[in-house]
Formats: sequence, structure tokens, C-alpha cells
Amino acid sequence: MKRASILVVVVFLLILAVPIANLVVGVPDHALSQLASSDPRTLQAAAILGRKCLNCHSTEPNLPFYAKFPGASQLIQADIRAGLRHVDLATALPAPPGGPVLEVALARIEHVLEQGSMPPLRYQLLHWTSGLSSDDEEKLFVWIGALREKHYASAGVAEPFRSEVVQPLPGWLELDAKKAALGEDLYHDPRLSGDDATSCATCHALEKAGTDRLRFSRAVGGRTAALNAPTTLNAQFQFAHSWDGRAATLEEQAVSHITDPAAMGATWSEVVVKLEKDTALAEAFRAVDPGGITQQGIVGALAEYARSLLTPGCALDGYLQGDASALTEDEKEGLRIFKASGCATCHCGNILGGRSFEIMGLRRDYFGLRGDVREADNGRYNVTGLEADRFRFKVPTLRNIAETPPYFHDGSTSDLRAAVRTMDSHQVGGRLSELDLDRVMKFLRTLTGKMPAPPER
Ligand code: HEC
Ligand code: HEC
Ligand code: HEC
Repeated sequence: MKRASILVVVVFLLILAVPIANLVVGVPDHALSQLASSDPRTLQAAAILGRKCLNCHSTEPNLPFYAKFPGASQLIQADIRAGLRHVDLATALPAPPGGPVLEVALARIEHVLEQGSMPPLRYQLLHWTSGLSSDDEEKLFVWIGALREKHYASAGVAEPFRSEVVQPLPGWLELDAKKAALGEDLYHDPRLSGDDATSCATCHALEKAGTDRLRFSRAVGGRTAALNAPTTLNAQFQFAHSWDGRAATLEEQAVSHITDPAAMGATWSEVVVKLEKDTALAEAFRAVDPGGITQQGIVGALAEYARSLLTPGCALDGYLQGDASALTEDEKEGLRIFKASGCATCHCGNILGGRSFEIMGLRRDYFGLRGDVREADNGRYNVTGLEADRFRFKVPTLRNIAETPPYFHDGSTSDLRAAVRTMDSHQVGGRLSELDLDRVMKFLRTLTGKMPAPPER
């Protein structure tokens, strides 16, 4: 009897040992050296993360001597692969040199702290000192709150929400009104296309919340775009543009669209010649720029107009700006579930997205289940050629989400509820009840703002 129970305990310990590799916690300090910062809280946080987290979340872990032994090596590598697939802390933390830690990294760390899920429990059972002490946790929470308040709080957000993971849109931004008005005309002008029939508004119609509500856009000459057209609304807050982030700025995005045969298929010289024949337009151009109609001027005006496309005033924003009655109890509960499920670890910030490239199908093989992988499905990989970027897409904004079906880069569903189910199963690995799903749906509908007014003339 006694022997049997010892055997059970031994077997149990062996089972525990198998899935999580037996790492000795080392400190790969080089990995966070980029965080060199005068802010003492950030240095403190970097030290905690370096000690407790980086061995599984960095491409340059500091491994113990036995990590090279057969068996141990495979297990350790498997853990690092899994950890890295979710987040590479060494690259996720530092923003451009000297910049603040990225918003999405703060959201991730906050989420695992709230869930108490990191380091993984099985690992902690084998390494008793590997867990976060409550002092570590407290320091990390304070650090996250302080960085958010300093760098990511929106103008106008109410005091209690200054360190919230989601933020309201700023109500107003400085714009060159004349340039934006010119951009509005160009946005609706089919002469910017090869067939004189396609304008920006064909695929990004304002009355359709900046999209065309088609699975794949109709491009010039009857061609079909390879990806679903994302919204142009609030796009200035996206950290890069298009699904794979190939355009760094709104200007670059407009340049590439105009000559792209799968969008507007024009040549710049033709466009400039066509527009120059329009004396009224040439006049309007000169009022903005004495150089008259140029590629740079066209693109600059289009981008300025795109920057005017804000949709403030949604119910969530009212709530975050201090009107407690702007959300119903169900909607507030929906927001809570949205955060607790980890949705905000990717859909964070003032547009609830547009902050990072993430694997579609993180926890469940999206493309295997859908079948027939096309080139465009490779996502960020098409830009970087890095295997780790295959199937990564820029996280879309959730603002006005109820108004912008179909969903996903492949426009595979027009049913928002189905899209959220897919997110829950493929990204979160959760199982939202029907009731919770109802509440998340109610929350998502609070993200519809006021459609932008035309620029003043
Ligand atoms: C022993 C290796 C290991 C250590 C140490 C470790 N992690 Fe992880 N981490 C993983 C693995 C494996 C996953 C994927 C977990 C899963 O499938 O749920 C993961 C996932 C994550 C995620 C994404 C999960 C989510 O819910 O968003 C975050 C964020 C994260 N870890 C942060 C941390 C932080 C912060 C620490 C230090 C306090 C830490 N990890 C320590 C292995 C590790
Ligand atoms: C034929 C349809 C079509 C036309 C016309 C078109 N677009 Fe797009 N647009 C798309 C598609 C499809 C994407 C996504 C492309 C990708 O991810 O590679 C996109 C992406 C964008 C984005 C990126 C949104 C983001 O931040 O992720 C912006 C901004 C944009 N277009 C602006 C414009 C402007 C300005 C014009 C006019 C010069 C224009 N588009 C014309 C289909 C179109
Ligand atoms: C690990 C990151 C991640 C998490 C967690 C996540 N999402 Fe997403 N979400 C994405 C990415 C990436 C896409 C785009 C995928 C694609 O187009 O193939 C997306 C797309 C969406 C879309 C469709 C948007 C559009 O315009 O096409 C909705 C709606 C959405 N997510 C809601 C949610 C909800 C609700 C949750 C929580 C249950 C959630 N997401 C969790 C990364 C994430």
C-alpha cells in the first residue's frame, strides 16, 4: 500500500517534469539592455522580468549547462518555442530607442499578472523560487500603471481610467484644413485610377464605415484584391498600415495603392497629366502648394484627409471620459469579460488594435481548418521573409466593428458573433458561454462612433 502511494507520487512528479522544461533561472541581462532608461521603475521591472521571464521569452536565453544534454535540450527548446510564439519579451518591450515600453507588452504582462499564469505552474513546481513574489507583482503593476499614465493616456480620459488598457479617441487633432479638403476631393476622384472608374472611396466608402463591405474589393479592370479592405477610419493610430504592415505611413499606403494593379492600377505621370487638365483643381492645388499638382502633393493631401477621418463620441469613450451612465451594466460586464479573456492583450490602446502583428490561429490552426492557404495568407512573412512571421497579421482596430463586415483578412465571415467565437477559440483558447458572448457583443457595439464630418472649406 505504502509502496503504491510512493509510486504514484513518483509517477506524478515525472508527469509534471515532462511538459515544462527544467531550466535553471538565469539572467540574460543583455536581452533587456535596450531598456536602458533613466526611469528607476522601468529598471526595476526589467530586473524582475529578466530574472523570472526572459529564459522562455527571448531568442537569446541564458541556459544552464545541462540544456545541451539529450532530452533536456528538446524539452527546453520546446518551452522556449511555445513561450516565444506568444511573446518575445526582449523585442516586445522596448519601443524605438529611448521610447517607452510598448503598449501591447504592458497589456500582456498585466494580463498574466492578473491571471497569475506566469511562469507556468508546472515550471514553478519544479523551480520553487521561480514564481513572482507579491512584492514583484506589486512593483510590476505600479510600473505598468505609471507608464500608461505617462505615455498612453488619451487627452480627456477621466482620472480613474488613465491607466486603462483601452483608451478613448482624442476628440480633436490639428490638421491643415485646406489640404484635407483637397484630399477629400482626391479621395473621391476616379481619375487617380487606371480605368477612370475606381477611387479610394470605391473600397473605403465613408457611408460603409471606411470599407466596401465586400469579401474582396473590386479593383481596377474587374480584378479582385487578395485581401479584405480594412477601414480607413482612425487609421492614423495604426502603428503600420495594411494587413502585413508593408506601409509605414498613410502617405506610403496611398502611393502604393495608386499604382498597384490590384487596387487602382494607374501610373503617376498619367494621373498628373489628367489632373492638370482640370483648371479648378490645379488652382486648389496651388493654394495649398505653389508647386502645383505633383505626386507628393496628391499623396500628402490624401494622407491629411485620412487623418481627419476620426470617429469620436462612441459610448465606450463617453464612459472612459467620465460618464458612468454611458455604458449599461451588460456593456460594462462585456468590457470586463473582454479584458479578462485576454482580448485586450492584442486589441489594446485607443483604437483597440493596430499595435502589433499577431499569429492568426495562435492556439488553434486557423488555416489548417479553413484549408487552401494562399500567398496573401502568409501575412507579415511576405514582408520580412521570417518564418516566425508566417500567418502574422496586424491586429485590426475594433472601432466601428459592427459596421465593417465581412471580418478578417480573408473576409471569411460577415457574422460578428462568429468572428468573436473564432477569436475566442483560436486566439484565446477560451470557451465563452453564450451569455458572456452576448455581453461581449453588446460591448463591441458600444465602439461605434460618430462618422467623420467633411473637412471645413
Ligand atoms: C518555463 C518557461 C516560461 C517562463 C519562465 C515564463 N513563461 Fe510566459 N509563457 C511560456 C509558455 C510555454 C507560454 C505559452 C503558454 C500557453 O500556451 O498558455 C507563455 C505565454 C506567455 C504570455 C502570453 C500568454 C497570454 O495569456 O497572453 C505572456 C504575456 C507571458 N508568457 C509572460 C511571461 C512573464 C511576464 C513571465 C515572467 C513573470 C513569464 N512569461 C515566464 C513559458 C514561460
Ligand atoms: C480596389 C480597392 C481599393 C482601393 C481603390 C483603395 N484601397 Fe486602400 N486598401 C484596400 C485593401 C485591400 C487594403 C489592404 C491591403 C493590404 O493589406 O495589403 C487597403 C488598405 C488601406 C489602408 C490601410 C489601413 C490600415 O491602416 O491598415 C489605407 C489607409 C488605405 N487603404 C487608404 C486608401 C487610399 C487613400 C486610397 C486611394 C488612394 C485607397 N486606399 C484605395 C483596397 C483599396
Ligand atoms: C493574440 C492576439 C489576439 C487576441 C488575444 C484576440 N485577437 Fe482579435 N484579432 C487578432 C488578429 C491578428 C486579427 C486579424 C486576423 C485575420 O484577419 O486573420 C483579429 C481580428 C479580430 C476581429 C475581426 C476584425 C476585422 O475587422 O476583421 C474581431 C471582431 C476580433 N478580433 C475580436 C476579438 C475578441 C472579442 C477577442 C477576445 C475574445 C480577440 N479578438 C482576441 C488578434 C487577437
